[in-house]
Amino acid sequence: MKKFIIEKSDALSGKISVQGSKNSVLPLLAATVLIKGKSRLHNCPELSDVRAAVKILESLGCTVERAGDTLTVDASEITGNEIPQELMSEMRSSVMFLGAILGRTGSAVLSAPGGCDIGKRPIDIHISAVSDLSAHTRRECGKLFFAAENGLKGNTVTLAFPSVGATENMILAACTAKGKTVIYNAACEPEIADLVSFLNLAGASVRMYGNGLIEIEGVRQLHGAEYTVMADRIAAGSYLLAAAATGGSLTVNNIFPQHIASLIPVLGKMGCKTEIGDNFVSVSAPKRLKAVSRTGTMPYPGFPTDLQAPLCASLCRAEGDSVVTENIFEARFKHVPELKKLGADITVQGKTAFIKGVPCLCASRLNALDLRGGFALIIAALQAQGTSEIINTEHIDRGYECPEKVLTELGAKIKRVEDYG
Ligand code: UD1
Repeated sequence: MKKFIIEKSDALSGKISVQGSKNSVLPLLAATVLIKGKSRLHNCPELSDVRAAVKILESLGCTVERAGDTLTVDASEITGNEIPQELMSEMRSSVMFLGAILGRTGSAVLSAPGGCDIGKRPIDIHISAVSDLSAHTRRECGKLFFAAENGLKGNTVTLAFPSVGATENMILAACTAKGKTVIYNAACEPEIADLVSFLNLAGASVRMYGNGLIEIEGVRQLHGAEYTVMADRIAAGSYLLAAAATGGSLTVNNIFPQHIASLIPVLGKMGCKTEIGDNFVSVSAPKRLKAVSRTGTMPYPGFPTDLQAPLCASLCRAEGDSVVTENIFEARFKHVPELKKLGADITVQGKTAFIKGVPCLCASRLNALDLRGGFALIIAALQAQGTSEIINTEHIDRGYECPEKVLTELGAKIKRVEDYG
């Protein structure tokens, strides 16, 4: 087990190029299962969730090679249709393989997915999505068995909620289904557009209209393709908030600014100056941030739930009272008790956090309980007088590639050491 040791930081400053997107590379890796041949993905981040996805591919019979940031997947032969229990419990996104395995083999076996503990994370919408494409579902001995004896068939479906994962699963299942599939109330996150671009390069016929409507014309088969994973908008936003919290200046290069458009006005309300170019966003923060009277998470293009915890952490020392509402997940405030250990004044009522800015935070030993909440603790520790420790760094490694290296380059004093408890 490792822990981070973090000292109070001066203003972080510099330039970074952000890693490839975790939330994009996972469904892209799932998509390779549909392709009877080789696919090559560039800009794949080195993350534990990506390693878990590679293990799932290998368990299905694919061969996967990594060379630098390129992953080459050969799915010419698929020898299995079941995701082993231990890999399912390693990460929730394992459920993403359902549509692709079903599409390729006509059947699939899953058990309960794992991932961050951020409240109820059912998979009912995923299940009804594939059922709507004529897959039968059976539960037995803690496992879910899916089978489409006569092949998947296109259908017109309205999702109960614009779930990112269920939308991706349905697209994957529909690519090689018979006939046309129309999805209403689909999620329209940029990572879904990235998946659609890759699938279309591989011979699929998917149109994404951006207003919750996606149309998929089933094709007989897909062929190998080469693709570069989009930049990680959540990592970009997380580092911009970290720099802002320390009164710093940061330029994040190689991103598509539109992907974090909802963060820009929030940074403005916090008193930061921002500059937006074709492929970069810069932030320059005052010594002390201002509170944000009201922000709520929403599906894209709204403020992302994945930036809620980093935002809360950067508002702990802001001047005034902030109100942050979590509208997507039901229990995504696990970072709050940890932030309070540093002296933050936060009250959670239902789905809303009321944050009274305090003039200073004091170091403490903190526990990273989930991925984004874990990064939020880094942001808070960077502002806290003294030396803080963050244990259970493995949660943070699911989505941030060497955060200590990135932050050190920006002037932070952070190191990762063995945690002997
Ligand atoms: C994806 C992202 C995650 C992000 C989330 C919301 C990946 C790998 N992960 O997760 O980082 O926080 O989108 O932007 O891309 N729900 C159901 N039933 C279902 C599916 C979802 O009730 O079958 C609910 C969830 O409990 C949650 C909400 O819908 O409250 C949103 O979940 P969803 O959009 O599916 O998130 P993920 O795809 O799991």
